[in-house]
Amino acid sequence: MKSWNPQAYDAWYETPLGKTSDRIEKDLIFSTAAIKKGERALDAGCGTGIYSIELAKRGAATTGTDSSEDMLVWARAKARKEGLTIDFVSADALMLPFPDDYFDLVLSAGMLCFIKERGKALQEMLRVLKPGGKLIIGVLNKQSPWALFRRIKGLFKDTIYNRVGFISPPELELSLQRAGFDVKELRTCLFFFPINCRMYLKFAMPLEKLGSRATPRMGAFLAALATKP
Ligand SMILES: C[S@@+](CC[C@H](N)C(=O)[O-])C[C@H]1O[C@@H](n2cnc3c(N)ncnc32)[C@H](O)[C@@H]1O
Repeated sequence: MKSWNPQAYDAWYETPLGKTSDRIEKDLIFSTAAIKKGERALDAGCGTGIYSIELAKRGAATTGTDSSEDMLVWARAKARKEGLTIDFVSADALMLPFPDDYFDLVLSAGMLCFIKERGKALQEMLRVLKPGGKLIIGVLNKQSPWALFRRIKGLFKDTIYNRVGFISPPELELSLQRAGFDVKELRTCLFFFPINCRMYLKFAMPLEKLGSRATPRMGAFLAALATKP
């Protein structure tokens, strides 16, 4: 499998499209569940630490895990630069090195789409969560025009989307229920077309409003809030 390139990964977030998408995705994730100061949080599949850093800034005692050492090295450097204490640990999501009932919150954005044994990864997240603990999961929505566009692009170019398992809202809900979670909420965002143009992206917010009313389950980014019974 092609390895992750942290520099290229974060470079996308510096593009107009990357910046706009990141802001909208983070709004969705952090409005789905408020982060309480001092709670113990895990960012599973943390990559370059984009969400770990947000969790730590909001006062959570944060651990980030990822199977890519390259991504972790980059994440540690970013956290250091921000003056944040985050424990970045090399770990496979299928075998998390933490005891049962350990975290108050598990957040995982983007990772599940790259894992074949989706159910097993969710069961691991359930195991390390305390009873009543929250899971916030973000995936790429199969039922979105972005998924179609990215699949077509992948026919002509080698992109990470050739390795992605897009997930639909009913599939995510079922996987969470099968793993043992109580599903509280499913929401999507990113309704505008992925065009990397500053002028066009000025209309992103009105398009978000329109899309969330007209086709609420068809945003490119799908987030779920679930709890451990
Ligand atoms: C799309 S990136 C998301 C990174 C980060 N969560 C974010 O939102 O920017 C997916 C990450 O999942 C990690 N990953 C994929 N399979 C994994 C596994 N089995 N165990 C741990 N991490 C995994 C990859 O190394 C990569 O850093």
